[in-house]
Amino acid sequence: MEIAGNSKKIAVYPGSFDPITNGHMDILKRAAALFDQVIVAVLHNPNKNPLFSVEERMNLISEATKDYDNVAVDSFMGLLVEYVSMKSASAIIRGLREISDFENELRMAHMNRHLNSSCVTVFIPTNNAYSYLSSSLVKEVASHGRDVTEFVPSAVAKAMHEKYRKA
Ligand code: PNS
Repeated sequence: MEIAGNSKKIAVYPGSFDPITNGHMDILKRAAALFDQVIVAVLHNPNKNPLFSVEERMNLISEATKDYDNVAVDSFMGLLVEYVSMKSASAIIRGLREISDFENELRMAHMNRHLNSSCVTVFIPTNNAYSYLSSSLVKEVASHGRDVTEFVPSAVAKAMHEKYRKA
């Protein structure tokens, strides 16, 4: 019988997180209970025009996850599977809000597995209460001056308010 080693089970939770929402937080909480360590990895995407810089997004995620002792925050560029290998992670975490998410997510999971056969994607369904939530929708609501504290961590709501106040 093989004796289990004591190597840590690390998962990467990648995304744009512009900004992190309560839906993301719910997925993260579940992932943190399943793995020894979860790395929230913010994608540097030069083709997008984000509301928050990568550094701002990382700071907001760090603030929102400060009570989780097995969550780290990082950023990456290029292919996700290469970042996952570099971190010796065994899984990629993706949240699913609704059936329509699944199509694209499954395609990405297959591509990632094709690019790196040891790459496993773990899908976690979002709490129903957040199934309609997306960073884009929250930005739209906040851009019209509405309070978004029920949708995002409090530091994020404050930062969004500041951004749109200055705009
Ligand atoms: O929060 P998002 O924007 O839905 O996250 C998408 C993300 C970052 C997971 C995806 O775009 C990604 O992994 N990009 C990195 C480039 C890559 O590896 N592409 C191939 C994935 S099939």
